[in-house]
Amino acid sequence: MIRSYEKTDEPSWLRCRVLSLLNTAYYDDVRQIKDTYKSASIELVAAEGEEIIGLIDLELDTHAGEVCSNPQFRGAMIRNLAVHPDHQRKGIGQLLLLEALERSRAAGTQYLEAWTRDDQWVRDWYDKMGFRPTESCFEVYIESEEDLKAVIECKVPHLRPKSMFAHYDGSDKAFVFSKFSRAHEVIRYDLEL
Ligand SMILES: CC(C)(COP(=O)(O)OP(=O)(O)OC[C@H]1O[C@@H](n2cnc3c(N)ncnc32)[C@H](O)[C@@H]1OP(=O)(O)O)[C@@H](O)C(=O)NCCC(=O)NCCS
Repeated sequence: MIRSYEKTDEPSWLRCRVLSLLNTAYYDDVRQIKDTYKSASIELVAAEGEEIIGLIDLELDTHAGEVCSNPQFRGAMIRNLAVHPDHQRKGIGQLLLLEALERSRAAGTQYLEAWTRDDQWVRDWYDKMGFRPTESCFEVYIESEEDLKAVIECKVPHLRPKSMFAHYDGSDKAFVFSKFSRAHEVIRYDLEL
């Protein structure tokens, strides 16, 4: 059953999200509290009895460019999308998307925007649903002391940075993937409504 999220869904929603991300490039993106949004939102779940087995959250532009990237059209950003690993590839993600699309259209949204890392099967899902890739950037994690010393200088006495997360907006993909032990290409997908 696809329905609106309710506050009592939160524990099961969090479990579904974290389990679904475990074998993706977002494996350590863990939440203990469900996200809430500044702008209007569409928050849907796929429920099987009491259990949440899928979820989608969209945050909506009130005016173009407020939440999403395109300054000319009113968009809705996919903030969370997950299907429980025991229930993937059964059409639940598509059902969630279709309901979200219907509600977005009714709210005056002109396109959907999503950003995802380099999991080919997740990209395949976006392609299959009709999204098209529009741009990309890179995210890197720096965890060795040697690499950290080469990029940052800490000015606080006695403080020794152990790791760093950074965005790289250059275009040298080969550099990013050879230099850092953990790097992701993050792709933006758009779907016109
Ligand atoms: C991406 C996701 C939401 C799709 O939901 P779903 O209910 O599994 O997918 P659907 O049944 O609607 O669509 C199936 C299609 O998605 C792709 N797909 C989904 N899971 C796949 C897998 N494990 N391996 C390969 N392709 C897969 C395929 O294109 C598949 O079509 P096919 O079965 O005809 O080959 C879901 O797999 C998921 O939760 N992924 C992990 C969380 C995640 O990465 N979220 C997005 C972060 S931006």
